[in-house]
Formats: sequence, structure tokens, C-alpha cells
Amino acid sequence: MEKLRREVFEKLEQYGQEQVFRFWDELNNDERLSLCRQAGRMDIDRLTGIIDVLLEREKNQEGSHQWKVPFSPASYISLPLDETSRCRWEDAYNLGEQILNEGCVAVLTAAGGQGTRLGFEGPKGAFAVTPVKGKSLFQIFAEKIRFAEKRYGNPIHWFIMTSDRNHNEIIGFFGKNNSFNLSNVHFIKQGSLAAVTTEGKIMLEDKWHIAMHPDGHGGAFRAFVASGANAMLEAQNIDIISYSQIDNPLTPIIDPYFIGFHKKNQSQISSRMILKTYPEEKVGVFCLIYGRPAVVEYSDLPTDQAIERDRSGTLRFKTGNAGIHLFDRNFFTLLGTEMNGYILPLHMAKKKIPTIDAHGKPIDPEMPNGIKFETFIFDALQFAEHSIIVEGDRKAIFSPIKNAVGLDSPKTCLQDQVRLFSKWLVAAGSDMPIDAKGLPPFNIEVSPLFADNERDFLMKWIHLEKRPTISSGSYIE
Ligand code: UD1
Repeated sequence: MEKLRREVFEKLEQYGQEQVFRFWDELNNDERLSLCRQAGRMDIDRLTGIIDVLLEREKNQEGSHQWKVPFSPASYISLPLDETSRCRWEDAYNLGEQILNEGCVAVLTAAGGQGTRLGFEGPKGAFAVTPVKGKSLFQIFAEKIRFAEKRYGNPIHWFIMTSDRNHNEIIGFFGKNNSFNLSNVHFIKQGSLAAVTTEGKIMLEDKWHIAMHPDGHGGAFRAFVASGANAMLEAQNIDIISYSQIDNPLTPIIDPYFIGFHKKNQSQISSRMILKTYPEEKVGVFCLIYGRPAVVEYSDLPTDQAIERDRSGTLRFKTGNAGIHLFDRNFFTLLGTEMNGYILPLHMAKKKIPTIDAHGKPIDPEMPNGIKFETFIFDALQFAEHSIIVEGDRKAIFSPIKNAVGLDSPKTCLQDQVRLFSKWLVAAGSDMPIDAKGLPPFNIEVSPLFADNERDFLMKWIHLEKRPTISSGSYIE
């Protein structure tokens, strides 16, 4: 341990971060070892580079706003509006089905976040969301994959990105649920970064523990390559990675339309957009910056642009980021390879960070007291030569769970699910009662094992020998 201690002490001193060891004399041997190991694993050179940038920005009062350059709304492939575009979408569908039949798609789910706003103790993926069965987000994703495996006759690799904060819990949850009867589930852990004070000093969470947090979903590139996942996919000729966030049960994980457009355009990153509904909505927007697509986060979009409308009254920046992308595997690998210096930019945010005071007593701050850094997966857009943005029907693909109550909460998500299932049933000829908001007076649920979209639902429903009567608590599987 002495060698490790000396190395780590020297390195931190060199960068003026020796406060990390300020309780050294009070620690026992195990605690000392734990602190040394944690500090030794930290990418201190990278972190210090970031801190310098941060202090420079603070000095120039630039805040977190990244976009100092002009930007305009990005264009996108819209939902079919006429016969010509309908044909284009059908062509994409057929191509997508062909690729799926060849087994060329893997799934990656970002589940490493902390779900602070939801206020749920466990990992967000374990949160129960469906209207009748109360299935967890992980179970819904798993059933979508099982449905696709059966339909296309190929096993599908499912990579779940975890973080230090929830890795063991997520593995435990899958263990308890027998991996939802899937055989190709892989857990990859994203990296962590230290939180710093506004003066750029690394913070402690405990006397022997540095305050660390997940490095943002942009950490997926590095984690993917480091875990060997890319090499495995390469060996199996799987060249499309279908990425999405765990917080949205309506996510079309395996969507032939989207896959077809991606392939046809030889896209390195394809993104799903949904129409933003109101100026303050907390979704990023796809924009063009120096002619290249990018996502401007909701926190970075200046108010005058957020509220800007065209003559028809539509928001000018309406191309909302649904958090759903398809990646070309080689492009993914490129961004996750150390050789390229992990080129994604770092975003910083002032946050409430549990820490300790000068005497080592815990502080649970009520106001932001430090800074966290994160990389964002969609910043990959600026490195892509070929990328496309494809619209999705918002009501069919987007209802994230972010908050405990109010907007984007379990309640709104439950209603959105029931509304969607009811729409499918009505399209199939059901005469179930529906109010002006598209909701029946009871909860119903359609399992992804039956169908995950209207097209598949209608197809299955037509061929049912005995169709169930729809009433309170109906569950279709
Ligand atoms: C995110 C997008 C926003 C998009 C919206 C759609 C970012 C920065 N912004 O906003 O552009 O319009 O979703 O719902 O993502 N995660 C990790 N590891 C991390 C951090 C997050 O896996 O280190 C995962 C979370 O588990 C979650 C997802 O990424 O599933 C989104 O993260 P969150 O911080 O909730 O993003 P939002 O602010 O909601």
C-alpha cells in the first residue's frame, strides 16, 4: 500500500488536490486502502483539464451555456404525409425487416442514471409502470426483445449500461427475475467522475470516499469498447446498435421503419425526434450548428428561441430529442477508443452533492454546492459524416417517467399507455367506451409479447380465434 499511497499522494499534490487526504491520520488501514484505490483509479489528468476549463468559464462568467454560435432547426424525415412518403416509409420498413431477419441488430439501454427527480430508491428500470400488471421498465424492455427474437428468429444481444451507483442492484433485480427469460443479457458499467467545488477542488463524500457520480450516458462508448462488447458484435457481424433510455416504456426498441431509414442512408447515427409540445418542455432540440446536426439541451436553449413560433403558430425549435438512436457499430467503436482521446465534450452542472464538513460530519445540502461533469451520447452527432433524424408519432413512442408527480410522471405515463392500447383496440373495431381524451373509464394493458405497435397489433388481432371482451383490467398477451 505504501507504494500506491506515495504515487497517489504525489499525483494529487501535483494538481493541488491534496485535500482529498485531509482525514488521513484518522483513517484505519482498510479506509486508507479504499481511499488510495479510489483516488488511483481516477483519471486525474483528464479531470484536471476539465477543472481548468471550468475555472476559466467561471472567470469569464460563461456559465454552462455551450452554444455561443448561431444555430437553426435541423431538418428531419417526417411521418408519412402523402402517397409518396408513405411508399418511402414502406420501403424503409421492408429493408428494416430484412436486416432484422439477418440478425444484425443489438440493443443498448442506458440505465446508469440516478433517477433523483423520480425519488425512487432502487434503479429506475425496476420501477413498476404498466397499468394492469405493474410490470417494471426492465420487464417491458425484455418483453419487447423476446417478441422481436421470436418474430425474426434470431437471438438479440441486450446490453444494459449500469453505473457504480446501481450496478449490483440491477444485476440482483435481473437475477431475481431470471433475466426475464432472456439468454443474451449483458451488463456494462459506465465510468465515474469526481464532483468538485466551485473552486475546482475534488469533494469527499466521506472521510475515506471521494464524491463520485456516473460520467453521463456518453460514457456508453468507452464502456462498450472496454467491456469487449464491440469486439463480440463485430465477430458476429452485428453492425447496428439500437440505443435508448430506460425511462420511456413506449420506446420502440426494434423498429423496422427506423432501421430501414438508417441503413438506406448509411447513417452513422440516426436519431428519433418527437414534436415538442410546449416551450418549457424538458427535451433537447435537434439543431444545425455549422451545418451539422446537434442537440441543444433544454437547459441551454435561450428562452427567446424556446418560445419562438412560425406564422402557423408552431414552435420554431420543435424537433424534440426522444433519446432514441441507432448507431453504426464502427462509429460507436471509434468514439469509445482511447486512441481518440474520448473526444466528447464535458457538460457541467451545479448540483446538490452530499459531502462532509471540515470535521468530517455529513452535509446534505439544500442548495447546489458543487459541480458534476457529464458527457452526452448525442454529442456524437458532431463527429458523424452521415446522420439522419426521423420523426416518430409522439403518442405512440414517447412517454418518459422523470418526476414523481405532475408532468412526465408515473400517472401521465400510465394514462398514455392506456390511451395508446385503447387506440389500437378501437382501430381493430372494438366499441369500448372512450372519452374526449381518448381514455376508457378503466385500465387495460397490452403486453409487448402480443404486440408493440399498432401495425403488429392489428395483424395479430385479426387472426385471433377468440377475441376477448374488453373491460376493466383486461390484459392481452
Ligand atoms: C434526456 C435528454 C434530452 C431528451 C430527454 C428525453 C440528456 C442530457 N438529455 O433528458 O435531450 O430530450 O432525455 O426524455 O440526456 N443515464 C445514464 N447514465 C448517466 C446519466 C443518465 O445511463 O450517467 C440515463 C438515465 O438512466 C436515463 C437517461 O440516461 O435513462 C436520460 O437521463 P436524464 O438525466 O434523465 O435526462 P433528461 O434530463 O431527462
